Amino acid sequence: MMKDSFRSFRITKEEDGYTRAVLQRQKEDLPEGDVLIQVLYSSLNYKDALSCIGNKGVTRHYPHTPGIDAAGVVEASSDAAFTPGEEVIVTGYDLGMNTDGGFGEYIRVPAQWVVKRPKGLTLKEAMIYGTAGFTAALSVHKLLLSVKKDDGEILITGGTGGVATNAAKILVKLGFDVVMATGKVDTQKESLMNLGIKDVISREDAEDTTGKAMLKPRWAGVIDTVGGNTLASALKTTHYNGAVTTCGNVGGDHFESSVYPFIIRSITLYGIDSVQCPMDLRMEIWHLLSSSWKSENLEAMTRLIGLEELDENVTKMLEGGHSGRMILAHKQDSD
Ligand SMILES: NC(=O)c1ccc[n+]([C@@H]2O[C@H](COP(=O)([O-])OP(=O)(O)OC[C@H]3O[C@@H](n4cnc5c(N)ncnc54)[C@H](OP(=O)(O)O)[C@@H]3O)[C@@H](O)[C@H]2O)c1
Repeated sequence: MMKDSFRSFRITKEEDGYTRAVLQRQKEDLPEGDVLIQVLYSSLNYKDALSCIGNKGVTRHYPHTPGIDAAGVVEASSDAAFTPGEEVIVTGYDLGMNTDGGFGEYIRVPAQWVVKRPKGLTLKEAMIYGTAGFTAALSVHKLLLSVKKDDGEILITGGTGGVATNAAKILVKLGFDVVMATGKVDTQKESLMNLGIKDVISREDAEDTTGKAMLKPRWAGVIDTVGGNTLASALKTTHYNGAVTTCGNVGGDHFESSVYPFIIRSITLYGIDSVQCPMDLRMEIWHLLSSSWKSENLEAMTRLIGLEELDENVTKMLEGGHSGRMILAHKQDSD
């Protein structure tokens, strides 16, 4: 018989802050939606960590279950497009923001959010990518509009993060020369080099402190996951006709630039949004990730964790002390 209760990593607002605990919940307490999914895997993203500490830009209503990624099996669907037993993934939209997310063993969501598992990926592999891999692929997709393999080196910032490591795997697979900037050269250089990249530089080496409007060109393109002055520095150091993508704000949500990178070096700045990405592009990106862009090295810099390990890893992520992708594997009750 199917059980009605399930385990969930729940965030509760208290008088003096937000608490996190693994709690039992009932399926009937999940939000309304067309498709009930038993979640087998999720992943830990920076946005989830922000949801855990009451960041209003991510989550407005508590108690709440974070988890912007989920992969699992359809248990029930009122939409004929999905049948019980089918393997599916959900990333983006409102999942894990104000809709209970993949840190619970079950989710219920609108059918429009659900993507059938691409043939070339297992559910676990889909979560190794998850929002981070999807965002990495969107960034590469945009970069390829402006930059070709022989144009020169591509810099990826926030090197040990989920978006960055996935972007490196894709670009290496496509034959690009990749350089990664990290704040953890001392401890993570070897792991990053094992992704097949050309070099690792320090976070400081990718940051301009001169304040000049332009610097000597270094990169054919930059995938920036950090924002702030790192993004401003990327714009100043990109070659003529090159491109920079921006998706993140871990290093700051403001940046200063002159018009010169754009009007003297003809640089293009691409904005990346994985949340509202239209379904046709979403399907194209998942297809690429499951076929020609799929890395042979997919499991590199990933680690499986259980619900009980989320708490400590959220703290580590907020402190910037983690590296690579953490994949949440739900241990299902046996009865
Ligand atoms: N636009 C979208 O649709 C979208 C989708 C997914 C993610 N994002 C955003 O993209 C960013 C990266 O996401 P993620 O999942 O890869 O996060 P992540 O796993 O936490 O990685 C971020 C990396 O940035 C570096 N970093 C951390 N704090 C920093 C600081 N203060 N200054 C400079 N670098 C710092 C760290 O790498 P090193 O220590 O190696 O330098 C860290 O591993 C986040 O801001 C996230 O919210 C946006």
